[in-house]
Amino acid sequence: MDRIRLVGGNELRGEIPISGAKNAALPLMIASLLTKDPLVLENVPRLADVNQLEKILENHGVDIAVHGRKAPTLEGQRMTLQAAEIVDTTAPYELVSTMRASFWVIGPLLARAHEARVSLPGGCAIGTRPVDLFLAGLKELGAEIEIDEGYVVARAPKGGLRGARVVFPKVTVGATHVLLMAATLAKGTTVLENAAMEPEISDVAECLVKMGAKISGIGTRTLTIEGVDELHGATHAVVADRIETGTYAMAAAMTGGDVLLKHARAEHLQAALDTLALAGVEISSEADGIRVRRNGNGIQAVHAETQPFPGFPTDLQAQFMALMTMANGTSQIRETIFENRYMHVAELARFGADIKVDGQVATVTGVPQLKGAQVMATDLRASVSLVIAGLAARGETVVNRIYHLDRGFERLEDKLSAVGAEIERVTG
Ligand code: UD1
Repeated sequence: MDRIRLVGGNELRGEIPISGAKNAALPLMIASLLTKDPLVLENVPRLADVNQLEKILENHGVDIAVHGRKAPTLEGQRMTLQAAEIVDTTAPYELVSTMRASFWVIGPLLARAHEARVSLPGGCAIGTRPVDLFLAGLKELGAEIEIDEGYVVARAPKGGLRGARVVFPKVTVGATHVLLMAATLAKGTTVLENAAMEPEISDVAECLVKMGAKISGIGTRTLTIEGVDELHGATHAVVADRIETGTYAMAAAMTGGDVLLKHARAEHLQAALDTLALAGVEISSEADGIRVRRNGNGIQAVHAETQPFPGFPTDLQAQFMALMTMANGTSQIRETIFENRYMHVAELARFGADIKVDGQVATVTGVPQLKGAQVMATDLRASVSLVIAGLAARGETVVNRIYHLDRGFERLEDKLSAVGAEIERVTG
C-alpha cells in the first residue's frame, strides 16, 4: 500500500496551481445524464473519485472521452460526456459504496428516465450521513420511493416529475444538488428554500443554465427552477477548489514562507482566510490567485466553528486544527456539521499535539514544536491535515493508507515538492 514520507522543517515558497474542485466536478459529471448531447468539462481534476464516477456513469450509458488524463502538466483534464441514451437506471452497490456523491445520480435518472434504483451511499466514515432529506425532496416532486435490499427505488409519476416548493429543514449540499438537477426537467416551477449556497452549487447551476435550464437565485438560499422539456450540450470549466486552496494556505501558514495559490478565489473561502488573518497570517488577493505569507512571526490561537457556506467549511476543520497545534495559546474548534469528524485528533497527538475533545468542541493548546511520526490516514480531509502537520514537524513523518488522499488531492506530492517541501510517495 502506498505511503507518503516527508521530512518537516522547510518553508514553502513559490506557486501552487489550484485544481478544479472535486465537489463541483463530480456533480457536473453527473449532470451529463440530463441530456443526450455532449457535455464538455474543462479543468477536471485527476482524482480517484473522478475515475470511480466515470465507471458509474458508463454503466448508465454515458460515453466518456478524456483529454490530458496523463498529461505531465498541472492543467486539468478535458472530459466529454455524452449520455445519448440511458441504458441502465440502476447504480449498483459495488460501484456506489465507496463514494457518497455517486448517490446523486438519482436526481438526473429520475428526471430523464423517470426511474432510478440506487444503492444507499458510502464514502468517508465521518458520522452518519443519512439521505432522508434527498428522499423527502424528491417525493415533493412527485416521486414514489421505497427502500429495497439496500437500494433506493424511485419512480416518477406518469409524465415525469412535477415542480414543487421544497423547504430544506437543514442546509444540505448533496440534497440541493440532487433537487436542483431533478427540477430542471420537471413540469412547472420548483422553489428550493434554505438551499445550500456553496460555490460548487453555483458552479453546477451555471453549467445547467448553459445547458438550457431556467434557474434564478443562483448564489442565494432560494433557487427557483422553471422546468424545461429537454436540456442540450454545453462547455464548462470547473471552478477552482476552495478546499485545496485553504489546505495549502494552512500548510504555508504552518511552515512559514510565501506561496501564491494560483487560480484561487478569495470570495470562495473568505471565512477561512479571515480566520487565518486573525491568527497572524498575511493574506492578499492578486490578479490570478491568493498570496499567503508568514515571515518570522508566530501563529496566534483563534477559535473556529464550522458552518455551511459562507461560514468556515467543515472540509477545512482538520487542517485548521493541525495549524492550531502550533499556535501561541489555546483555541476552541467547534464542528457543527458532523457529529464524528475528529478522527484526526488521535493521529495529531502522535506528533505531540495537545488536543482534548468534548462533544462537538475540540480544545487545542499550542505546543512549541511538533515531532515527526508514523500516522494513518482516516478520511480524506483528515489525511491531509497529517501531511501538513508533518511539513511543520521536526524529523521524518510517514503517512500510511493514503488512498484517501488520492480521492481528493491532485498531485499532492508534486505540488508540495515544487514549493520546497521534502515529500515523496513510497509505493508498495
Ligand atoms: C458535507 C458538507 C460539504 C462537504 C461534505 C464532505 C456542509 C453543509 N456540507 O456535505 O461542504 O464538502 O460534507 O465533507 O458543510 N443530512 C441529513 N439528511 C440528508 C442529507 C444531509 O440529515 O438527507 C445532514 C448530514 O448528515 C449533515 C448535514 O445534513 O449533518 C449536511 O449534509 P450535506 O451538506 O448533504 O452533507 P454532504 O453532502 O456530505
